[in-house]
Amino acid sequence: MPETFLITGGSSGIGLALAHHAAKAGHRLILAALPGQELEDAERSFRASYPGIDLHLCPTDLTRPKGPDEVYAFTQSRHLDVDVLVNNAGVGTWGRLHTLDPEKEVKMIELNILALYKLTRLYLTPMQERQAGHILFIASIAAFQPNPYMATYGATKAFVRSFGLALYHELKDQGSAVRVTTVCPPAIPTAFQRVAGMERSALFSGWLASDVASVAAAVWKGYQQKSPQVIPSRLLSFLQPFIRLLPESWSIWMARRTLRQNLPE
Ligand SMILES: NC(=O)c1ccc[n+]([C@@H]2O[C@H](COP(=O)([O-])OP(=O)(O)OC[C@H]3O[C@@H](n4cnc5c(N)ncnc54)[C@H](OP(=O)(O)O)[C@@H]3O)[C@@H](O)[C@H]2O)c1
Repeated sequence: MPETFLITGGSSGIGLALAHHAAKAGHRLILAALPGQELEDAERSFRASYPGIDLHLCPTDLTRPKGPDEVYAFTQSRHLDVDVLVNNAGVGTWGRLHTLDPEKEVKMIELNILALYKLTRLYLTPMQERQAGHILFIASIAAFQPNPYMATYGATKAFVRSFGLALYHELKDQGSAVRVTTVCPPAIPTAFQRVAGMERSALFSGWLASDVASVAAAVWKGYQQKSPQVIPSRLLSFLQPFIRLLPESWSIWMARRTLRQNLPE
């Protein structure tokens, strides 16, 4: 049975790769991302690869306070019941906190936290009424510990992971049929790296780094299996229970060690 997927940030990286999984499986797609070349290219490639695809583009800047409401109004105006909401759009910042542009960081908080919160609230109610639906939250491995030199980004992702897992347990307690999956990807070289100014960061070539195709395949499997949490890295999934037994200062030291390499002045 085809489902309707709303993927924020579906024009690039993880969101785009997930959209391909959904399109291949014959689902309807709504891609909400910044207006521009990326979204137009994504549309062209979907229409060429999947003739007859039911595809809707919703160009929007989700950092605008009305952005999430406009996405909701867009789906309402087209009578689209969203079955799967993928809260994926997100950006990062890297550097010593006092050197980072506060405006850029506030925009990141608006996108990574506020837009995700608002969209979840807007779509959760109809999902609860229909007793059907699935919400995916794309957090990060940065959510597991404080991250010196990515202090604000890491904190936004800690919010996402905590919020997603808490919502999973709330809905489970209520016996709700609405599913929640929280995803914690490792570093992968996507446009994220450039947008965050992390071209020289050691993070994307380190032992934990992965690639977008493997991450999207793991997320897709997690969606199909309705897993509460997906860590799309075999090594990290295996190590995570042991890492959690170590003092937090150890994981902070590991993050700090990697993130301060090649740090911009
Ligand atoms: N890459 C990594 O290492 C990594 C690791 C862990 C977690 N994550 C998380 O994974 C998610 C996806 O990241 P990615 O690596 O796939 O990055 P990406 O390739 O840069 O994709 C980000 C997507 O978000 C969209 N977007 C950015 N700002 C937006 C805004 N203001 N309003 C609406 N859409 C906006 C982008 O649209 P445009 O294409 O038009 O710019 C793009 O579609 C993010 O939440 C990120 O934090 C990434």
